[in-house]
Amino acid sequence: MSDFAELHYDGNVYKIPVVEGSEKEKALDISNLRASSGLITIDPGFKNTGSTTSAITFLDGEEGILRYRGYPIEQLAEKSTFLEVSYLIIYGALPTTEQLSTWKSEITYHTLIHEDFKRILEGFPSNSHPMGVLSSLVTSLTAFYPESLDPNRSADQVRISIIRLLAKMPTLAAWSFKNEIGHPTVYPNNNLDYTSNFLRMMFSTPAEEYEIDPVVTDALDKLLILHAEHEQNCSTSTVRIVGSSHASLYSSVSAGINALWGPLHGGANQAVIEMLEAIKADGGPGAVDKYLAKAKDKDDPFRLMGFGHRVYKNFDPRARIIKKAADNVLEKLGVNDPVLEIAKKLEEAALNDPYFVERKLYPNVDFYSGIIYRALGIPTNMFTVMFAMGRLPGWIAQWMEMRTNNEPIGRPRQVYTGETVRDYVDISKR
Ligand code: CMC
Repeated sequence: MSDFAELHYDGNVYKIPVVEGSEKEKALDISNLRASSGLITIDPGFKNTGSTTSAITFLDGEEGILRYRGYPIEQLAEKSTFLEVSYLIIYGALPTTEQLSTWKSEITYHTLIHEDFKRILEGFPSNSHPMGVLSSLVTSLTAFYPESLDPNRSADQVRISIIRLLAKMPTLAAWSFKNEIGHPTVYPNNNLDYTSNFLRMMFSTPAEEYEIDPVVTDALDKLLILHAEHEQNCSTSTVRIVGSSHASLYSSVSAGINALWGPLHGGANQAVIEMLEAIKADGGPGAVDKYLAKAKDKDDPFRLMGFGHRVYKNFDPRARIIKKAADNVLEKLGVNDPVLEIAKKLEEAALNDPYFVERKLYPNVDFYSGIIYRALGIPTNMFTVMFAMGRLPGWIAQWMEMRTNNEPIGRPRQVYTGETVRDYVDISKR
């Protein structure tokens, strides 16, 4: 088989090389297309466009496969921990015992944040959405570590930025929440593991110590693993494109947090619970058909939140694991959440409805995650912050890969459809 495709246009033939990935995925390499033919491609939403080659995540949306650095997500969720998976995603291999121990202790050592962060927090109105606060705090790290801004940063400088970001993110996230509810912030306790430490900073108060519950910690750690990386999605592409201008890791990740916030992306987990609550208030499981009809009505902007995915067209493997975990966690914690019943009814009805079947719309990672977060005591507007904490190693790895490969600045072209040239008209004559 030839390793190029031919484009016949305007009497000319252009040979376009075909590149093949390690899982035999094929793509047309059009990087010389404009130079040779004067043509560009148009692809709104990048539905057919690969922005890069990448060795981090393999995803097959038709088969429902997701692997980080070759390891199936199902195995990692069952056997690994979030910090081990973070190392794997960032450095490409599972750590040895010694590497893992150094990694954990370095991250644990850097959990504390500068006291001046308290003054930054004071500047936000209490009840600010924690996602907005978190993205501001992450970008503020550039002020405390200005050496991170150096575009010629050394490998050591990058490493310490990565450690600091992973270490401080739970502190920044928990403090964003404390700001919202008007409670005093809680300092990290480095005797605790990553996830327990975060939960303690969220839920302990000067009046009451938080009791670590391994069921809660394990469930949250698993959720972080499931969110850790997802190749070139909206927020990751944002991180790469911001970083391609040689912006710092902190500012690139802060941009990713903002991209994640939207309800079509990570913000869907909050939107799902709000939708399920609305259905509950509107009659409970009996109102499911009404909401399905709304989702199908093209004159109604309502969409079934937590359903559909740009790349998964069979099932989202993360959603399968999370659905099982939801049943398990709720049972272990003795929580009876009526929205779980509504969610299951909604899923069943949608999966049997031709509208959803024809369009290959399945529950995605966000459909059941909110139900678990809620059972763990995480408030609704912190759900997307949880997603951001989980996605952090993915953003870091993608930023590093892009910089290590010295990729060019991200700068798409366009086809102009506005006015052609015209002369300026004096205001008195308009
Ligand atoms: N409810 C009703 N109809 C839908 C939905 C939905 N959730 N999702 C897609 N459709 C319809 C859409 O109207 C379109 O129909 P038609 O062909 O008749 O015009 C068709 O399905 C294809 O949808 P699309 O919007 O062209 O697909 P996309 O790949 O551009 O969008 C999506 C993907 C995830 C933005 C979309 O499915 C959606 O809005 N879902 C709800 C929000 C959500 O759950 N987002 C979380 C995604 S998973 C977490 C993450 O990684 O971000």
